[in-house]
Amino acid sequence: MHIPVAKPMIGTEERDNVTRLLRSAMLSQGQYTGEFEKKLAAYVGTEFAVGTNSGTSALHIALLGLGAKSNTTVLTSALSFVATPNAISYTGAKPAFVDVGFEDLNISFEKLQETLEGLPDVVGVVPVHLMGVPADIYSILDWASAYELFVVEDSALALGTRYKTRMLGTIADAGIYSFYGSKTIVTGEGGMLVTNNEELNERMRLLRSHGQHPNHKYFHTTLGYSYQLSNLHAAVGIAQMEKIDEIVDRKRYVATILRKELLTMNNLSLFNEPEGSEITYFGCPFLVNKAENKHRVLSMLAEKNIETRPIFCVLPELCMYAENSVETKYPHALDISRRGFYISCAPTLTDLEIEYLIDSLMDVDQRID
Ligand SMILES: Cc1ncc(COP(=O)(O)O)c(C=O)c1O
Repeated sequence: MHIPVAKPMIGTEERDNVTRLLRSAMLSQGQYTGEFEKKLAAYVGTEFAVGTNSGTSALHIALLGLGAKSNTTVLTSALSFVATPNAISYTGAKPAFVDVGFEDLNISFEKLQETLEGLPDVVGVVPVHLMGVPADIYSILDWASAYELFVVEDSALALGTRYKTRMLGTIADAGIYSFYGSKTIVTGEGGMLVTNNEELNERMRLLRSHGQHPNHKYFHTTLGYSYQLSNLHAAVGIAQMEKIDEIVDRKRYVATILRKELLTMNNLSLFNEPEGSEITYFGCPFLVNKAENKHRVLSMLAEKNIETRPIFCVLPELCMYAENSVETKYPHALDISRRGFYISCAPTLTDLEIEYLIDSLMDVDQRID
């Protein structure tokens, strides 16, 4: 048996849509992009959705539209994929990192205030819902509004998670999703920005398509980008939207079973789930209780043909964002990166594969001390 970290649910609907589209030769522009946007907006419950060619480009234009620019600072989590601070940097703003909580995947609400106080030019916050687990978004929103900061939810990994009845990505000024091949729904590459702000929606549409006036071909009113979501990618997205409930249900089922059966391990532990959350995990994350055992755990899982990945990066350790005193400033993010890993939570995992994952993790847990 081989268990890759991701395997999307692709079927005849995707193949039929793509074949039909190839016959029509409408690869770049066409009806699918707008249809996909409407379906995703309806699914998450926002008024507007703007398709882009990646989650990173959606985040970039959302930040631009909300006012990130040179000589400003945007707060974000110290633990994420590099696309989060990169999108901030593309606007000319500087990312300022905030540690996560103890054994918590997400930005520490307490640390936000502390970080803000040391910086004069903060204009916004990008909380990341890492692995699909909700950040403390309602508290962050209340706090940010007191300081007139914008909030963009980086929900690249969190499409389908509900938190206190609302979908992640729809709670703040704007949210973004990614459709890269390992995400909840996939289009190969692709992303979407969602918002209830009409002005932002219009600005996003301009920015994603060369700044071109919507009714005036080759009349460009602002410096825009070539960030369109192609009709071809959207054709796959439309088919994925038809099965999003099935995908989300199955991902939740996989995580629920894994978490239930693996709750009593001695050397590996699970992350807590915030109260009121119904999580659609990107992958199933674990913590090895002792950092010195992590390498052995991952090797044993690799021997069993179970792929693992680290829980992304401690961003201020990367050369582009390097800071001094990372150990003292971001102890919790460092702790998770030293002890954390994830395995598949794919909607395509069979019952037999789920059983194999459980048996393998239990076996590994018993063989380490
Ligand atoms: C937290 C986070 N933000 C943003 C992105 C960027 O998404 P994309 O790969 O579609 O550009 C990713 C991609 O994995 C991510 O994990």
